[in-house]
Amino acid sequence: MKLNLSVDEVLTTTRAVRKRLDVSKPVPRAVIEECLELALQAPNGSNRNVWRWVVVDDRAMIAKVADQYKGALGDFSKVRASESTGIPREDKLMESALSLVGTLDKVPAMLIPLMSGRADGKSVPEQAAMWGSITQAVWSFFLALRERGLGSVWTTVTLQREKEIAGLLGIPFDQYTQVGLFPIAYTLGTDFKKAWRKPVSEVLSYNKF
Ligand SMILES: Cc1cc2nc3c(=O)[nH]c(=O)nc-3n(C[C@H](O)[C@H](O)[C@H](O)COP(=O)(O)O)c2cc1C
Repeated sequence: MKLNLSVDEVLTTTRAVRKRLDVSKPVPRAVIEECLELALQAPNGSNRNVWRWVVVDDRAMIAKVADQYKGALGDFSKVRASESTGIPREDKLMESALSLVGTLDKVPAMLIPLMSGRADGKSVPEQAAMWGSITQAVWSFFLALRERGLGSVWTTVTLQREKEIAGLLGIPFDQYTQVGLFPIAYTLGTDFKKAWRKPVSEVLSYNKF
C-alpha cells in the first residue's frame, strides 16, 4: 500500500526511525525488492552497478548482527559521552540511538549495502567515487520505504565490527566495503514531521566560501 505523499512530503518527512519501528509486522520480501528496484535507479559511477545488497531476514542471523551493533555502539558511546555537539535535543537523539539496541534484534529485516572494493587507504577522489556510487541509492531506498509506510535509520556504527559482520554473512571482506546497517520495518503510524536543520541562510554562500 502506498501513502501517496508528494515528493516534497517524502523529502521532508523521511526521518531516522528507531522507536517507531513496528517489530510485530512482517515485511514481505516483495516490498523490499520493490523498494530496491526503485533505489537502483540512482546514479552510480560509469553505471557499473558493482554494488551488492544483502538483506538479512533470518531471525537467528538478525540476532547475531544486532549483537554486533550492540557491541559497536558500546564502543562508540564511550567516545561520544565526553563530547557535546550543541545540537537541539541532543540528549533525546542519544537516548533514541541507544534504544535501537533493544529493538534491532526484533526487526523484520535489515539491509547491508556493499560497495565493491575496500575504502581503506583510498585517495579522496577514489573514495568519493565509491561512496558516491551507492549512498544515493540507499537514500532512495529510504524514500521508497517511506512512501510505503515503512522506515529505517541510517546507521554506521557497525562498521567498527565490519569484519565480524562480514564473517557472519559470508561477505568477502577484502572485496567489499559495508555502507552501514539499515533496519527495515513498517512504522508505527505514518505521520512524520519535518526535522530541525540549520537554516539555509547559515550554510549557503554564493561565489565564495
Ligand atoms: C552517516 C550517518 C551515520 C549514522 N549513524 C547512526 C548510527 O550508527 N546509529 C543511529 O542510531 N543513528 C545513526 N544515524 C542517524 C542520525 O542520527 C539521524 O539521521 C539524524 O539524527 C537525523 O535524524 P532526523 O532526520 O530524524 O532528524 C546516522 C546518520 C548518518 C547520515
